[in-house]
Amino acid sequence: MNIPYKILGNGSYLPELTVDNEMYAQIIDTSDEWITTRTGISRRHLCDGETTSEMAVKAGAKALEDAGVLPENIDIIIVTTLTPDYTTPNTACIVQADLKAVNAFCFDLNAACTGFIQAFDVAMHYLNATEPVTVLIVSAESLSKIADFTDRRTCVLFGDGAGAVVVSNREANGADIAPARVYSSFFGADGTGGGYMTGKAFEVAVHPFSDSDQSARADRFGHETGIYLSMKGPEVYKFATTAMPSAVEKVLERAKINLTDIDYVVPHQANDRILQAAAKRLGLDPEKMLSNIAETGNTSSASVPICLDQYVRSGLIQRGQTLILTGFGGGLTYGACACIF
Ligand code: ACO
Repeated sequence: MNIPYKILGNGSYLPELTVDNEMYAQIIDTSDEWITTRTGISRRHLCDGETTSEMAVKAGAKALEDAGVLPENIDIIIVTTLTPDYTTPNTACIVQADLKAVNAFCFDLNAACTGFIQAFDVAMHYLNATEPVTVLIVSAESLSKIADFTDRRTCVLFGDGAGAVVVSNREANGADIAPARVYSSFFGADGTGGGYMTGKAFEVAVHPFSDSDQSARADRFGHETGIYLSMKGPEVYKFATTAMPSAVEKVLERAKINLTDIDYVVPHQANDRILQAAAKRLGLDPEKMLSNIAETGNTSSASVPICLDQYVRSGLIQRGQTLILTGFGGGLTYGACACIF
């Protein structure tokens, strides 16, 4: 489908504290060699007293500045996160208040690591149906607050950070965007794989009017680490290496374009081996499968907009190029969008 849209601006924020693999080797039984060869991660940024919403505000402000859009001209703010500061207010409302985006309505979206691209697709539907409309999407995660730093199978993988884009069906100066641009998307989910990646929110209520004994209740997913993330890595790996390429193939088909029309794929950064395997499966030049995981680790839903922002600022991604944004994550969820930058 063709939609009048433009990514007007982008921004990202990474906490100052950098933790390299050697620092993990001092607290758990792991090594730089294991982490780099199995994941491609060398270091990651971790919050040091900062909150998810603080990072979201910083990334959002950079995207607004880059777009040349005033906060009061934002109509919708969507924040994606699985690590909010509060259940209410949602993180998007905190971002709205801090950025003074007084005319925006706000909601959070949680599709784990697929969150950003899912929010991007929701924004596209607004852009296609309503005019004029300008949307700020911010993805922010402090996974360090739900990582179990005694579990070497998970904690070394994750980093913190935030990324943001401003999308609109109007130029920043209010002019029409013409002609309409190619856009397609595909999303899927497999709830039967929910147990591959779990983190608990709340326990079953034992309120003053409840007589039920919950002591023998088994957790649906066998999750035993409370709010801390638990993951069946090899199962997620297998899912990712098939789900991501199949989503990419579907968006190419829907957009009626070929892999050779794609300038870059901006994928969720979970593991370099997953990205290489996905590129091979697709027959994509590995250079076109962008990666920044060596320096960021897996920042869940924030990883796609952080990666996008870094490669735009480095000059590799340029205006008019055709991109595929793709990801997968807990849920299980997965999907892709084909768009023009
Ligand atoms: N250091 C040293 N050894 C380790 C470490 C570590 N950090 N982690 C695991 N090992 C050990 C395991 O204990 C195991 O040892 P054992 O055989 O003695 O029991 C051995 O290494 C192999 O473990 P596997 O889990 O089979 O290792 P694998 O090669 O599959 O790599 C990894 C694990 C990196 C997690 C991989 O499975 C993976 O990347 N999976 C996908 C993860 C993912 O994409 N997650 C994100 C999705 S959701 C989200 O992003 C929020």
